[in-house]
Amino acid sequence: MSSSNGHSDVAQSLGNPLLTAVAPANPEPLTILDTTLRDGEQSPGVALTADDKLAIARQLARLRVDVIEAGFPFSSPGDYAAVRAIAEHVEGPVIAGLSRCFEADVRQCAKALEPAQRARIHVFIGTSPIHRDSQLHMSQAEVLERSRSMTALAKTFREDVEFSPMDASRTEPEYLADVVAATIEAGATTINLPDTVGYATPDEWRGLIGWLTMRVPSLAGVTLSVHCHNDLGLAVANSLASIRAGARQVETCVNGIGERAGNAALEEVAMATRLHPEVFGVSTQLDHSQLYRTSRMVSQLTGMAVQPNKAVVGANAFAHHSGIHQDGILKDRRTFEIMDAAEVGAGSTLVLGKLSGRHALRNRLEQLGYKLDEEELKRAFVRFKELADRKRDVTDRDLEAVVADERRTGDEQYQLEHLQVSCGTQLRPTATVRMLLPDGLSHEAAAIGDGPVDAAYRAIHELCQVEGELEEFAVQAVTGGIDAIGEVSVRLHHDGTRAAGHGADTDIIVAAAKAYVHALNRMADGVASGDKPTPETSGAATAPQR
Ligand code: KIV
Ligand code: ZN
Repeated sequence: MSSSNGHSDVAQSLGNPLLTAVAPANPEPLTILDTTLRDGEQSPGVALTADDKLAIARQLARLRVDVIEAGFPFSSPGDYAAVRAIAEHVEGPVIAGLSRCFEADVRQCAKALEPAQRARIHVFIGTSPIHRDSQLHMSQAEVLERSRSMTALAKTFREDVEFSPMDASRTEPEYLADVVAATIEAGATTINLPDTVGYATPDEWRGLIGWLTMRVPSLAGVTLSVHCHNDLGLAVANSLASIRAGARQVETCVNGIGERAGNAALEEVAMATRLHPEVFGVSTQLDHSQLYRTSRMVSQLTGMAVQPNKAVVGANAFAHHSGIHQDGILKDRRTFEIMDAAEVGAGSTLVLGKLSGRHALRNRLEQLGYKLDEEELKRAFVRFKELADRKRDVTDRDLEAVVADERRTGDEQYQLEHLQVSCGTQLRPTATVRMLLPDGLSHEAAAIGDGPVDAAYRAIHELCQVEGELEEFAVQAVTGGIDAIGEVSVRLHHDGTRAAGHGADTDIIVAAAKAYVHALNRMADGVASGDKPTPETSGAATAPQR
């Protein structure tokens, strides 16, 4: 199957002559605004550090998204710093920051974006009756005036301004049209229609967009965008329907994460539009071969596991189990596959072995986009050698898991030094754990548990004494085979605050212990979610407080 960007090639390679017949020769560009770092970070339990955000932003640039929504600068000093760092260090995409319709928000957003060569201020306000009456306590006229004046203010800082009438799908259409027309007149260059609560259905949503386009002629001069939530599982379907209605920007999150049930999944929108040029007539500038890697990075850093049956990037997306399917795949992959794993970067290549040296490791990591300093490389090399001793084939996926794991365990307060577990059918699971604690000394504790992981967690808890109840625990294999690296994601909860942790190792109990220690460190460092205002919770009309 072709992996080039030639759309008719793709349709043709699927073996359907009808598809090629109507694929446009010159598809229109579709802008992808990725909001993983803003809306995605609003997923319950997700709290990314500034380093995590920078790493994800760099990967999004490698994936060649057009716009990275890097955060909501007014919401916290941490978000401000992260947006600024991304604006300073990430080249390629436009860097966007979110801002409520308050002067202080807009100014703070503009300040965070100062270092970016190409930046966008994204202002929003709730326009639906429920938002106006119950949250904002503002009249239609007040919301319209605030939308207009704050768009105009944003325009004094940046040429590129996006305006979102939050909860557009539940806003009175005539009023929505008035707000959209007013903000275009005030200088908005992108009008984004959010289906904030995931209430829309594809036909109705497409109808609204079509009607709005006719009702507001000035929409033809700006980019029309959509931002669809997944409460009914329709975020991608609604986004695709919008493209058919003329939207030329879609807002997405990697793995479909985001507030509540999440946002439209980037990888699904990317592959649906790529495989169906005859339906959507658009093309993106994405490097599709980076999709899988981006998905893995986001999953690891957010601690949100990707469901195995997830479209495009799930572990089973390219697995064939039934005999008939396997037979077909062996004869011609197109019998049961509409895309090639390699096309989205999900093929697992054997790259290095036991005898590979540090130079080869550095080279391969650089090809994969990792720039490690000497110290990091030294640690990664030790881990690689340990891995190569235990695991015959070391693939790109394994290397990525090792590097991500190494990055997590730099100078954390609590460090796992040693873990020994005894368990079996006739034994009570017992774990002995040695850890380096903030006093700079190694301490040891032993505990009995219901299972080996429980025993290890009890011993770790005894040493760290950081409060946090285990709320979620998920295990996944990085690659196939009995010697695969296992990855564990956990989420801890304490007093309304949540912290995610992640660990990887060929020994699943060790991976589980690492994930727990990682989450405890984040809990102790305050890198936990729960206290962060989000656009949905902080849309009140009162003077902003940070
Ligand atoms: O869902 C939503 O309405 C949003 C806006 C802030 C764009 O995330
Ligand atoms: Zn949203």
